[in-house]
Amino acid sequence: MHKFKFIDLFAGIGGFHIAMHENGGECVFASEIDKFARQTYEHNFSKISPELFTGGHFNQDITDSALVYSNIPDFDVLCAGFPCQPFSHAGLKKGFDDTRGTLFFNIKEIIRAKIEANKLDKKVAIPRVLLLENVKGFRNHDKGNTYKVIKHTLNDLGYEVAAEVLNSKHFGVPQNRERIFIVAWHRDSVKKNDFKFPFGLTQKDEVIYEKEKRDELAKKIKVGDILLTNKELQQFENRDNKTYTISEKLWEGHQRRKIMHAEKGNGFGYSIFNSQSSYTSTISARYYKDGSEILIEQKGVKGKPDRPRKLHPVEAAKLQGYPIDSWYEIPVSDNQAYKQFGNSVSVPVVSTLAFEIKNQLLDL
Ligand SMILES: C[S@@+](CC[C@H](N)C(=O)[O-])C[C@H]1O[C@@H](n2cnc3c(N)ncnc32)[C@H](O)[C@@H]1O
Repeated sequence: MHKFKFIDLFAGIGGFHIAMHENGGECVFASEIDKFARQTYEHNFSKISPELFTGGHFNQDITDSALVYSNIPDFDVLCAGFPCQPFSHAGLKKGFDDTRGTLFFNIKEIIRAKIEANKLDKKVAIPRVLLLENVKGFRNHDKGNTYKVIKHTLNDLGYEVAAEVLNSKHFGVPQNRERIFIVAWHRDSVKKNDFKFPFGLTQKDEVIYEKEKRDELAKKIKVGDILLTNKELQQFENRDNKTYTISEKLWEGHQRRKIMHAEKGNGFGYSIFNSQSSYTSTISARYYKDGSEILIEQKGVKGKPDRPRKLHPVEAAKLQGYPIDSWYEIPVSDNQAYKQFGNSVSVPVVSTLAFEIKNQLLDL
């Protein structure tokens, strides 16, 4: 039974979709421009949200002028992990629209179209809650101007705005991934003064609301939790006739660069983890290039050289909390898969947020 409706903008491979769906949300519109991300999205979500595709609501380019925003089906929650772009400094006070020409402008226009339509016809629903995601440094992007403009813009549209940086490692996935989440709720349709952010999950999956206690209370996890067994990995390697062990040349290059960086006194260079590590570094969209941010130790593994290996795409999926052991599948090449998981949200973080939004703001 669906309890609320949501739209999935800049949808990628559907991290928000899984999280909202798990919490009773029905996806009524999604938008993603990248051909390969669309392939993964449709492959998976045609199973759980078939009407999205049969009804023609899987849009490609959100800036497409043929797309009339007021025709987007009504929804309660808008989700968007949108690209971070600077806004003009023309100044809000002068009444210019600083957001024009950016993708946030399109998010704003979708919300505005619904609010305007509601003024003419009360049957049109106002978007009640907005959930936006971005990189940790978003608040300081362009000296704070980007965040300021977004907050002002949403305030002007009638929304209260709250934001926090959350870390995936506190939500049961062994990845140090910090992302800002902006939650906004419409003053007229959601009578709430604040939103209490979830900062993590305990061993018993209870929500941690105290930011200072998250390191102490969060469930204990290890990188080993998301790794394939040596046997499983070997089976994949045999099946696909490839190896995830990095080449000698690449390994030499990584080691050389590490020494160079160390001499310059900075900590850059490759990072290596094993099953006992508490968490990996952040997987990024460029992981496919050389895997340097997350290498897995292989010393002493029978039949393998001492050089480390990259994550298998299935492990990348697990590192982002995707249900790859049950129904979610990867229909694209390894390189596309790394890019897609690196660009994605960690599902358990958004799922926890979705649960709190449903309880605290939608009163469901
Ligand atoms: C940071 S990713 C979001 C990933 C997503 N949150 C997930 O869970 O996989 C941003 C996405 O926006 C998409 N995008 C960029 N410009 C777009 C446009 N004009 N219309 C639709 N999607 C666009 C990109 O292709 C990319 O997949």
